[in-house]
Amino acid sequence: MPLFLLYLLSLLLLFPPLLSALTPSPQPSHLLRPSSHSHSTSLSSSSPQQYLDPTFPSLLLPSTPPTFSLPLFSHSFAYTYNLPPFTSPYSPPSSPWSRAVLQLSVSCAGEQYDRIAAVWLDRVELLRTSTAEPTEAGVFWSVRKEVTRYKSLLNDPPNGTVSVMLENIVDDTFTGVFHVNVSLDFYLSEEDESRESKKPADMIIPIAEEKADTGFWFRIHNGSHMRFTQFGIPSNTFRAVLEIFVSFHGNDEFWYTNPPDSYIKKNNLTTGRGNAAFREVFVTVDGYYAGSIVPFPVVFTGGINPLWWAPVVALGAFNLPTYTLELTPFLGILLDRKSHEIGVGVTDGISFWLIDANLHIWLDPNSDLTTAKVVNQAKEASISREYSSQSLNGTFDIKAGRESHFSGWVNSSFGNLTTYVSNEIEFCC
Ligand SMILES: *[C@@H]1O[C@H](CO)[C@@H](O)[C@H](O)[C@H]1NC(C)=O
Ligand SMILES: *[C@@H]1O[C@H](CO)[C@@H](O)[C@H](O)[C@H]1NC(C)=O
Ligand SMILES: *[C@@H]1O[C@H](CO)[C@@H](O)[C@H](O)[C@H]1NC(C)=O
Ligand SMILES: *[C@@H]1O[C@H](CO)[C@@H](O)[C@H](O)[C@H]1NC(C)=O
Ligand SMILES: *[C@@H]1O[C@H](CO)[C@@H](O)[C@H](O)[C@H]1NC(C)=O
Ligand SMILES: *[C@@H]1O[C@H](CO)[C@@H](O)[C@H](O)[C@H]1NC(C)=O
Ligand SMILES: *[C@@H]1O[C@H](CO)[C@@H](O)[C@H](O)[C@H]1NC(C)=O
Repeated sequence: MPLFLLYLLSLLLLFPPLLSALTPSPQPSHLLRPSSHSHSTSLSSSSPQQYLDPTFPSLLLPSTPPTFSLPLFSHSFAYTYNLPPFTSPYSPPSSPWSRAVLQLSVSCAGEQYDRIAAVWLDRVELLRTSTAEPTEAGVFWSVRKEVTRYKSLLNDPPNGTVSVMLENIVDDTFTGVFHVNVSLDFYLSEEDESRESKKPADMIIPIAEEKADTGFWFRIHNGSHMRFTQFGIPSNTFRAVLEIFVSFHGNDEFWYTNPPDSYIKKNNLTTGRGNAAFREVFVTVDGYYAGSIVPFPVVFTGGINPLWWAPVVALGAFNLPTYTLELTPFLGILLDRKSHEIGVGVTDGISFWLIDANLHIWLDPNSDLTTAKVVNQAKEASISREYSSQSLNGTFDIKAGRESHFSGWVNSSFGNLTTYVSNEIEFCC
């Protein structure tokens, strides 16, 4: 992002008149769109309006209708603040299928903030989404996400519980209730079945909170706060891939615009949005650095200026991007029938981040035992910072670099294969 834009955003976020609008409790980081009764703009209309997420490429579905559909639940999220997730039993489909698409439809009318939400099946996150800010006349939208990669879980869930977190507040001022329908569409085609390279994992291990009290996601509050999950993998694993879900909130909702602490201090500002503008979600395996990602800056519909996101929301707002780390080179550590630990954290993070991950595991169909060894684990990281400011005017340069190379071999019935993983992150403003 060009520097001037960052600076402009920082100003927008830090100073009046927007500042006053930034502090309604209990969710201080969101703006509310002007309500339709106090401003009669051309945007207000009398019939409910459809909202869209313009993320490209959109999901390509077969022209034929689904082979069958499985409704999961209908639920209205009214006052759900501080409550555990809504749950609903899940029964796997009884007919064969080759493709699955999750569909989440929402409608809402009244006055309300944008909210973050997630759908889990037995602790495995399937979708991270955020809601639009409604109008008096109402808004509605639909999210579709391909969930074929969760085939083993969808067919054979260990517990059979769908959980949904959508914390919302309804009172005299905030009247919007989110009505949500969730269903799964299944398709069967030989063409899908023959795509061996896209074969879904045989097993999915959630890297997430054990208990659902406040959702299965980890809440990360600062740069030294890490959360861990213990797990073991079957002795015939030949591939492991970690899929990461992430969203950022509170003082880090706009982390890519945060000024350095020195600037905040020098100007006697009261904002908690500091720590400068670099963040990275990193993953460890038994304490070893195993990779990191810089998340895409998804803007929720109350972000910066709510009128920019109506009725076309920001990229990814209805279906937040997920990130993939290939962990196959680490099988040499994990294949000893013992318990291991995956950890997640946020470099320079401030409160709060919602993160969890799914470990996708592929098993050797012809052997009970695979063997593996880590060959190379090289990494290098650097962050350079240069700040200068004259009162409220300033230039903040932050450059981060990260390079890692991992390799390891796995011997299975498919042969003795070596996987090389190279990651390079260059972050510059
Ligand atoms: C949910 O499903 C019910 C019953 O089919 C329907 O009346 C309602 O409009 C749906 N709501 C949304 C938000 O799609
Ligand atoms: C497992 O199922 C029970 C009973 O349906 C439910 O209370 C519990 O939350 C479920 N656990 C998970 C991890 O979904
Ligand atoms: C980071 O957050 C954790 C969890 O909230 C807390 O226990 C710890 O004291 C915090 N550390 C710092 C340096 O603020
Ligand atoms: C910040 O506060 C200190 C102590 O009250 C004061 O000396 C200084 O001038 C203030 N700086 C600015 C930029 O207002
Ligand atoms: C900040 O920059 C603007 C535009 O360059 C200038 O007009 C203003 O005097 C500067 N303010 C300070 C306090 O340096
Ligand atoms: C490699 O794996 C195959 C299949 O499990 C096994 O038959 C073979 O003995 C293994 N090779 C070595 C050198 O361990
Ligand atoms: C697999 O290949 C690597 C590198 O080629 C070799 O060092 C290792 O001994 C092989 N493992 C087995 C079980 O054959």
